Amino acid sequence: MIGNDITYAAELLKSGKTVAIPTETVYGLAANGFDEDAVINIFEIKQRPRFNPLILHIGNWEMLETISNQVPEVLLSLAKAFWPGPLTILVPKTEAVHDIITAGSPLVAVRMPNHPLTLSLLQQLPFPLAAPSANTFGTISPTNAQHVENQLGSALDYILDGGECAIGVESTIAKVNEFGRVVILRPGGISAGEMEKVIGYQPESVSAEHPTEAPGMLKSHYAPKIPLVIGNLNQLCEEHHNKAIGIISLQHQFSHPAIIHQEILTEDGDLHLAARNLFAALRRLETSGAEIILGELVPDNGIGIAINDRLTRASA
Ligand code: TXA
Ligand code: MG
Repeated sequence: MIGNDITYAAELLKSGKTVAIPTETVYGLAANGFDEDAVINIFEIKQRPRFNPLILHIGNWEMLETISNQVPEVLLSLAKAFWPGPLTILVPKTEAVHDIITAGSPLVAVRMPNHPLTLSLLQQLPFPLAAPSANTFGTISPTNAQHVENQLGSALDYILDGGECAIGVESTIAKVNEFGRVVILRPGGISAGEMEKVIGYQPESVSAEHPTEAPGMLKSHYAPKIPLVIGNLNQLCEEHHNKAIGIISLQHQFSHPAIIHQEILTEDGDLHLAARNLFAALRRLETSGAEIILGELVPDNGIGIAINDRLTRASA
């Protein structure tokens, strides 16, 4: 069922049920983060491997103290600057956090999402919400309630409808490395440049060495059901002229007789708008009848880095 009844959503969550929730990035598949059985349910609905840890979502600062009592100063300053918002920090966990949340890691991922419905829902709950994106493992993340309904509706008691996600790509995940420097594990809604204004340097991007470090970072992820190839669109159209082509481009219209569907992410080149449109455009392409999707990368700056990361993973 889809609706916007926060009180009902809170009741379900208090009784251990799973509810899809809107955030500013993508929809989440939420359950009581302190209830092991409720969390196991998330993994089952999502068909997600247990080695892939979950983010805990909080609605106030007191909850952060329950989850971690050793938040590095520099991560706290980032959280203060960007919460509620699309930033996730990895911090040492307390005993309150089960190993299933962190896949055995001593670090837990936390964020305060910036969506009015979900913030007031969280503020009614005495626990954080564990929530991965509300899609089956490895597929495109949902950016509206209908996306969730289409894929997971039958497995869910309730989908809290908060409209279209304003950011459209997942949160930036940051931690401190062994030298105390901030590093980015997943580019997302907050750019390295925005973080620099708070911490005085551009955090480096690191790729996680082992699965629990980089999980959502698995190479093939966010994948549409038909092949996606990234490159120069004019060349790619020539190479694939014998197939029904779907196009995902930043700004320009392409013309070629083999093109049957085209998605333009933004008319004026605004990368924030492109991010907001990205996942819905990929979903429309999936069902457009195209046999192959051809795409191009966007300028590699700001939120464009997150867009390019998702496009590249979707094409792996
Ligand atoms: O914007 C978002 O972050 C969305 C919304 C719903 O909040 N959530 C999201 O969750 O994207 P998910 O589970 O699809 O991706 C979370 C990523 C995973 O790649 C996971 O591996 C990483 O965060 N992660 C979570 N806990 C971690 C930990 N303790 N150590 C390292 N990586 C962690
Ligand atoms: Mg995900």
